[in-house]
Amino acid sequence: MSAAGLLTSHLRPGHPDFLDLPWQHSLANWDDTFPRIESLPVGDSRHAVRFVNYEGRLYALKELPPDLAQKEYSVLREMEELGLPVVHPIGYIRTETHDGPCGVLVTRYLDRSLPYQLIFQSGRLERYRDHLLDAMAILLVQLHLSGVFWGDCSLNNTLFRRDAGALQAYFVDAETSEVQPSIAEGMREHDLEITEENVYGALLDLQAQGTLDANFPVPDVGRYLRERYDRLWDEVCREEIISREEGYRIQERVRSLNALGFSVDEVELATTEGGSMLSYRVLVTDRNFHRNQLATLTGIDAEEGQARQMINEIQEMRATLSQKRNRSVPLSATAFHWLTQLFTPISAQLEKLSSEDVGLVELYCELLEHKWYLSENAAGDVGHESALKDYLRVKEARTEEDHTEEDRREDHTEAPTEED
Ligand SMILES: Nc1ncnc2c1ncn2[C@@H]1O[C@H](COP(=O)(O)OP(=O)(O)OP(=O)(O)O)[C@@H](O)[C@H]1O
Ligand SMILES: [Mg+2]
Repeated sequence: MSAAGLLTSHLRPGHPDFLDLPWQHSLANWDDTFPRIESLPVGDSRHAVRFVNYEGRLYALKELPPDLAQKEYSVLREMEELGLPVVHPIGYIRTETHDGPCGVLVTRYLDRSLPYQLIFQSGRLERYRDHLLDAMAILLVQLHLSGVFWGDCSLNNTLFRRDAGALQAYFVDAETSEVQPSIAEGMREHDLEITEENVYGALLDLQAQGTLDANFPVPDVGRYLRERYDRLWDEVCREEIISREEGYRIQERVRSLNALGFSVDEVELATTEGGSMLSYRVLVTDRNFHRNQLATLTGIDAEEGQARQMINEIQEMRATLSQKRNRSVPLSATAFHWLTQLFTPISAQLEKLSSEDVGLVELYCELLEHKWYLSENAAGDVGHESALKDYLRVKEARTEEDHTEEDRREDHTEAPTEED
């Protein structure tokens, strides 16, 4: 019999070998004081999940039966290759612990992610609650478009990241998932039913704990999710019949799907009714339209909503520059100008506000939102400089308030201890 410890590992290059972890024990029995272990918020799960820190890079380890770890790794890789928002799979490990053989799935910890409980528990995250169900419906549409059946869509199996004031949902748990070239109608329906039931249950639990307001209309949540999902699915997948003179409507449809973030790969066109009419469908590849565009133009890695805001700003800048120079300025040249004249210098000033929770790109989007709000009130563009000044002032005042509130709460919690 082999000694307890790590037996084999399959890991993508550029990551640690994880050999120094206490593999002779199952993850649930790892000592919390072990130097690499990080305590971070974690959703409810059947399997033990641990987070480890290698020189500031965080990884999530999930213990599973050996074959399932390998299977989940393969599914996550396939999904990642399809451009879906999933946790980044690093590999799988087989171990022999004192409790028997184990498999471990290794993924990169999804930085700046919020488990849903935190969104409901923290007063500061209140503004994101309304976006939670939208983000889930969008994620389900994204998966189904790529032929993925989830099989266990729930709030616990989803992580949320801030995305220009809204949320982007990330897929975490692929244990029950299957990737096919396309998904059957019945499977989509099944996934929706599972989602409705799971989300309903999770929100009822939050209500029972007093975390979610008793007036929150939990019974309506399923209907809302389904409506949101159906509308989006129809928007992307419906077949349209147009006359031969209405070809421009195809371009309009592609543009409106791009505006929703979907990248259109092909348009399928067929003549019908003896050739007098055309029927067409668009084939969508992923929901990374602006993300890809921004990354190509500037190298910035952003969520889709953040990227859309920044691309819109670059487009506006392009129009202004073209007008000023009396010639069409290419988007790539404008993007360079935007990067050097706006994004980089402003980011340098926002840096002090950036934290493990909120990154620079999200702060920049908040600033754009603030500028828009000030300009609305002033009935004219207030400009970046004055918006930034005001934004920093508001943020500093809010931080001050938060500190006062924390001090007040500490005084409050210390009081009974003193009395004890
Ligand atoms: N890469 C990651 N980054 C951040 N958090 C993660 C990551 N992987 C897992 N988690 C956290 O661990 C929790 C449990 O993971 P997961 O859902 O995969 O476990 P599970 O035991 O398979 O769940 P279930 O009980 O639904 O089968 C997630 O809800 C999430 O909070
Ligand atoms: Mg899970």
